Amino acid sequence: MSRQILVTSALPYANGSIHLGHLVEYIQTDIWVRFQKMRGHDCRYMCADDTHGTAIMLRAEKEGITPETLIGRVWDEHTRDFAGFHIGFDHYYSTHSDENRALASKIYLALKDAGLIDVKTIAQLYDPVKNLFLPDRFIKGECPKCGALDQYGDNCEVCGATYSPTELKNPVSAVSGATPVHKDSEHYFFKLGACEAFLREWTTSGTLQAEAANKMQEWFAAGLNNWDISRDAPYFGFEIPGAPGKYFYVWLDAPVGYMASFAKYAADNGLDFNAWWGPESKTELVHFIGKDILYFHALFWPAMLKYSGHRLPTAVYAHGFLTVNGQKMSKSRGTFITAESYLAQKLNPEWLRYYYAAKLNGSMEDIDLNLDDFVARVNSDLVGKFINIASRTAGFIHKNFEGKLADGVANIELINDFQAAAGTIAAHYEARDYAKALREIMALADRANQYVADEKPWELAKKPEAVYRLHEVCTVALNCFRLLTLYLKPVLPKLAGEVEAFLDIPPLAWDDAQSLFIRHRINAYTHLMTRIDPKSIEAMVDANKQNLEPTPAPAPARHAEAQAHAAQPVSAAAAVADTISIDDFAKIDLRIARIANAEHVEGADKLLRLTLDLGELGTRQVFAGIKSAYAPEALVGRLTVMVANLAPRKMKFGMSEGMVLAASHPDGHKGDAPSLFILSPDSGAQPGMKVK
Ligand code: MSP
Ligand code: ZN
Repeated sequence: MSRQILVTSALPYANGSIHLGHLVEYIQTDIWVRFQKMRGHDCRYMCADDTHGTAIMLRAEKEGITPETLIGRVWDEHTRDFAGFHIGFDHYYSTHSDENRALASKIYLALKDAGLIDVKTIAQLYDPVKNLFLPDRFIKGECPKCGALDQYGDNCEVCGATYSPTELKNPVSAVSGATPVHKDSEHYFFKLGACEAFLREWTTSGTLQAEAANKMQEWFAAGLNNWDISRDAPYFGFEIPGAPGKYFYVWLDAPVGYMASFAKYAADNGLDFNAWWGPESKTELVHFIGKDILYFHALFWPAMLKYSGHRLPTAVYAHGFLTVNGQKMSKSRGTFITAESYLAQKLNPEWLRYYYAAKLNGSMEDIDLNLDDFVARVNSDLVGKFINIASRTAGFIHKNFEGKLADGVANIELINDFQAAAGTIAAHYEARDYAKALREIMALADRANQYVADEKPWELAKKPEAVYRLHEVCTVALNCFRLLTLYLKPVLPKLAGEVEAFLDIPPLAWDDAQSLFIRHRINAYTHLMTRIDPKSIEAMVDANKQNLEPTPAPAPARHAEAQAHAAQPVSAAAAVADTISIDDFAKIDLRIARIANAEHVEGADKLLRLTLDLGELGTRQVFAGIKSAYAPEALVGRLTVMVANLAPRKMKFGMSEGMVLAASHPDGHKGDAPSLFILSPDSGAQPGMKVK
C-alpha cells in the first residue's frame, strides 16, 4: 500500500554557512526520502531557513543591511549548497513568511485558549547602550565558580560550570562593551509542566529511538520547566498577537516553519493542508534532527501540536554529531569544512554521500569523517568494486554485439541472488541503517567482481568459439551492475541517472529489481566516476584553515540566538584597584619564564596550553586565555613573566600551575588590533629570574 509521508530536516540557521556537519543530516534525510520515492510512496520533503533571533538582527546591523536582505542572501547560498549535494527538497522555504506568521500566531492563541500561557515579570541583563536585553551568549564576564575571565553568560569553558548570566561576576555586554544592568520585563511562558502526563505517554508511543526515550526520562526526572517564549523588542521575528513590543522567541516559530513550508507547498500544488496536519491526519510525519535539538522536538513541539489541535509526529529520528579525523570540527585545523569549499575543489558530492551513508546506522552515535579513510573507502568501493563491473564488461557488448545484451542467460543463479537481496536492503534503508544496506550491497559487488574474474571475458573475447559465453557473461555482469545501481540509487542519485542513460533505461524504481535485463541495446560506456585525488582533500583543508583571528570568534553554539558577533574579550577593571602594602606585593612570586612549548587545547576556544621553562625551578604547565591574540608557533622560545606561586588550579583540560601576565585595555577592545599583549623582559633576562 502506498504511504503518504511528510519528511523534514531541521531548519538551518540563516546566520551561517552550510558545513559538512550539517550535511550529515540533510544527506541522511535525502537518502531516506529518495528511497521512499523509489518504493512508490507519496513522500514530500520540506525544509526552510530558520531566520529569526537576535544574532541575525545584530549581524545584519553590523553589515549595514536589513535582516530581510541578509536572510535573502543566505537563502540563496543555502539552496545553492544543498543543490550541490543533490539534496532534493520538495520545498525549501523561510520561517520569515506570511504562512509562518499566521500559523505561529494561531498555535499560540490556541495554547493561550487552552490556559497554557503564563505571563511573569523576570529580571534579565540589559545593555543600556544598545537598549537591548542580552541573550546569554552575548554576555561575558568572570565565572562565578572558578573566577576565569572572559567567559560566556551560560557556561565556563575553563571549569565547565553552567550558570545563569545574572550570576557572572563583572559582566560586560559583548555587543557594546557596556556593563549590563538588571532590568525587569514581562515574559510569556508556555506551561510545559502542565503537559507532562501527555508527554510521558507520548514518549513511550514508539515515536522516539530508545536512546532518545531514555533521555526523556532524565528530563522528566529533572522536572519540566515552563518555557520562556517571548523576547522584547528590538528583535527580528514575529510580534506576539495582543502583546505589543513582545516577539516570539525564535524556537517558538522555528518548528512551525515545517508546517508553514508545507502550507505554501500545499497551496501551490493543490494538496489539502488538513489531511496532512489536522488532528485526524492519516499521513506519516517524520522529523530528522541532530541530537542537540531533541529537547525542542521531543518536548516543546509535540506539546505545541497536541494542545493546538494538530496531529503529532509519527517519528523523530535523531542522529549524532560529525567529527573530522576523530575530533570536533576545528577552524584552526581546517576541518570546519564548508559545503561550498568542498564543491569548490571539484570534489564529487556523491563521494561524501556514500561515505556518510556507510557510517550512518540510525542511532544517535557521533560519526567520524576520517579523511584518509574517506579517500580509501570511496576509491575502493565505488570505483574499484562498483564501477569496475561495468568498465570491464560493457566494452565487449559494444565491440562484439553491436551494443545488444543477450536474449537470455542460461545460469541466472547470481542474478537471482541479487534480486533476492532487494527485501533485506530495503528493510535496512527503511530503518535508516544505511551502513548495513551498503555492506550488503558491497558484498554483492564483490560477488559480481569474482564472477567476472572467474569468467575472464577478456580471454573469452580472444576465442571465436566462446562468443556465446562472452555474450552471456557480459549480460550477467551488466544485470548485476544494473541491480547494484538500483540499490545504490538513494545514495548516488546523479550517478544512477548517468547509468540509466548509459543503459538506456527509464528511471529505476525499487520494483524493477525483479525484472531481468536482456534483449536490450545499451549505449557506449563512458567513464562514470573517477578516484579521489588526496591532493584535493589537502587543498580543501588548507582553504578552510583560518588564520587565528585577532579577536576570538565566539564558540559555535547551535541554539537560538547563538553565534554572537561582536564578542570581544573585555576587562571590566576600569579604575585603579585599592592600594596594597609592599608586603602584599612581596607575596607574589613573579618569575621570568621561557615559553618552551605552546599548543592549542582541544575543545577550548580561548586557551593555549603553555609549557613554561623556569630554569632551575623546572617547568610548569599553564593554560592561558590568549589564543585570540597569539598563534602558538609565535610564542615558542619567547620570554615572558609569570606568577609562579599561584595555587595550582584544576581546569577542565588539566592542571594550570601559574599564570602568565598580559596587558589588555580596561574598557575592552577597539578595532581589529589584538586585544592582549603578553609581557616580555628586556633582552638578557634568564628563565627563573625573580621579578621585583
Ligand atoms: N535552527 C535550528 C533548528 C530548528 S528546527 C525547527 C538549528 N540549526 S543549525 O543550523 O544549528 O543545525 C541544523 C541541523 O544540523 C541540526 O539538526 C543540527 O543538529 C545539525 N548539525 C549542525 N552541526 C552538526 C554537526 N557538526 N554534526 C551533525 N549534525 C549537525 O539547530
Ligand atoms: Zn569556571
